[in-house]
Amino acid sequence: MCGIVGYVGPKQAQDVVIEGLRRLEYRGYDSAGVALVSDGRIAWAKKAGKLANLEKVLSESPLPGATTGIGHTRWATHGAPNDTNAHPHLGNDARVALVHNGIIENFAELRAEVEAAGHELRSETDTEIAAHLLESALSTGATLTGAMQQVCARLEGAFTLVAVDAEDPSRVVAARRNSPLVVGIGEGENFIGSDVAAFIEHTREAMELGQDQIVTITREGVEVIGFDGAPAEGTRYHVDWDLSAAEKGGFDWFMRKEIFEQPRAIADALLGRHDRSGRLQLDEVRISDDELREVDKIIVIACGTAFYAGLVAKYAIEHWTRIPCEVELAHEFRYRDPILTRSTLVVAISQSGETADTLMAIRHARQQRSKVLAICNTNGSTIPRESDAVIYTHAGPEIGVASTKGFITQMVAAYLLGLYLAQVRGTSYADEIARVVAELRDMPDHVQRILDGADDLYALAEELEGARSVLFLGRHVGFPIALEGALKLKELAYLHAEGFAAGELKHGPIALIEPGLPVFCVVPPRGRDQLHDKMVSAIQEIRARGARTIVLVEDDDPGIEEFADTIIRLPRVSTLLQPVAAVVPLQLFACELASRLGHDVDQPRNLAKSVTVE
Ligand code: M6R
Repeated sequence: MCGIVGYVGPKQAQDVVIEGLRRLEYRGYDSAGVALVSDGRIAWAKKAGKLANLEKVLSESPLPGATTGIGHTRWATHGAPNDTNAHPHLGNDARVALVHNGIIENFAELRAEVEAAGHELRSETDTEIAAHLLESALSTGATLTGAMQQVCARLEGAFTLVAVDAEDPSRVVAARRNSPLVVGIGEGENFIGSDVAAFIEHTREAMELGQDQIVTITREGVEVIGFDGAPAEGTRYHVDWDLSAAEKGGFDWFMRKEIFEQPRAIADALLGRHDRSGRLQLDEVRISDDELREVDKIIVIACGTAFYAGLVAKYAIEHWTRIPCEVELAHEFRYRDPILTRSTLVVAISQSGETADTLMAIRHARQQRSKVLAICNTNGSTIPRESDAVIYTHAGPEIGVASTKGFITQMVAAYLLGLYLAQVRGTSYADEIARVVAELRDMPDHVQRILDGADDLYALAEELEGARSVLFLGRHVGFPIALEGALKLKELAYLHAEGFAAGELKHGPIALIEPGLPVFCVVPPRGRDQLHDKMVSAIQEIRARGARTIVLVEDDDPGIEEFADTIIRLPRVSTLLQPVAAVVPLQLFACELASRLGHDVDQPRNLAKSVTVE
């Protein structure tokens, strides 16, 4: 959570920082602030609410010109989202300004210490303490880099800190532990960001920092040291997406744009992963085939939407590989003392690659000597870096807080993993694997056809604008899709929405059915006859009790019309792949309904794109 930006160079720092914050606002939007180094003093402004509020303040009371600055957009952890708690925070004498992403766990004892030394702290945040400590260290003659080193040695928790010193306009200093931080490398200018979106319009050359490292940027260069002061090196890389990929491209919301990008995203996720005969090659999986043959249990860990991709993965992986596969919410995982051995493969799914709960679960698994394979969308992020292997989903930047193309490509990557394991272990025949690969290659066209019919979903959203509660039913791989459909409505439309396994209805949830209640029902393809027929029975049961049934069912499935108030047609695909198609109408519906209700679809209340605190 929280977006951070730093700049030093010839341009007006305020402009660079504000533009960077605009691209990072998806990370948090409770407040925003900027600090500049100008004529030996810190000039700053901060304001509760979205970045637009800060911009208004800046236009009414402009800050002086400056070419060194930092900025922050906040997702509140300690302290209410008000002006005082907004970042940047200043030291006692306003010599230092500092922004922070993460949580300083030992802030209470440090606060007591500096207050006892006569410092006056103004906010309720854990962050402000770091500004005061930095300033104290500077007053002993340390450079900002040296002061940062001293302060980091005292902090516990997860943090990215970025600071400027009024007496040294030549540098911005940043530090990271368990929290994201990348450096943008320009010519005669350098940048700091929570991710590359912060500086992508200025440079596509980036450097990722390791754990417990401090970076100092000046106009001339970038210097990295460890928290222990030893020289260190970041890893340079080239960002292969450009500014236009992070812009809305004519859509009203990033989310809608990202939904419509899904055919391309699926195709990219498959690119280079198989040869002409359908034989899979997953070059990035740095776990040897011998090791994969020894795997006797798979545990998928993830949160939110990524967890639902994991639930879909379980059905496919177990079916194709016959390896038992558990799926666990990452934040529950390590606390229940899971059984992990050297032959357990842990699959961590994360769009952002920065989700703290998932990261902590990965560390636990690796301590227990299990191998970890990440399915991730964000190149250079922490989760793939800390895993033994990675399958990148190649969905491109996902800006909307609600995951869409991230989710669809997570499922595709999980299918590829399952098929690859089946190929390596010989649990499926080559022609069977090739058939599924061929079917996956058809998915972009199928999804495109659903998108071409988006207007019907928009009309449905108009009809259901007054709904107070919506249910979603599915069976088998349709069950996680029901959960995902409900989550999308909760997070975007702020509506009560629940997803159920249709078989569970009679065990309780059917009591919720009342006349007019909208219920989305995902009908499995006819290939699995029992599943299909049982789902149709469930639809009849709820319809008999007055539910308004909205039925997602494959083309040409006869006999469903009489039980459906609305039919949403899905392409004919095999059962295991149906989620890739079935989720799309639910995404379109949620996006449209939230938009009609006047909500901010890209930045829903209380949420942040990357949940970098546990
Ligand atoms: O970046 P991750 O995939 O690790 O994020 C996991 C969840 O926080 C995320 O999927 C969240 O549930 C989304 N807002 C759902 O749309």
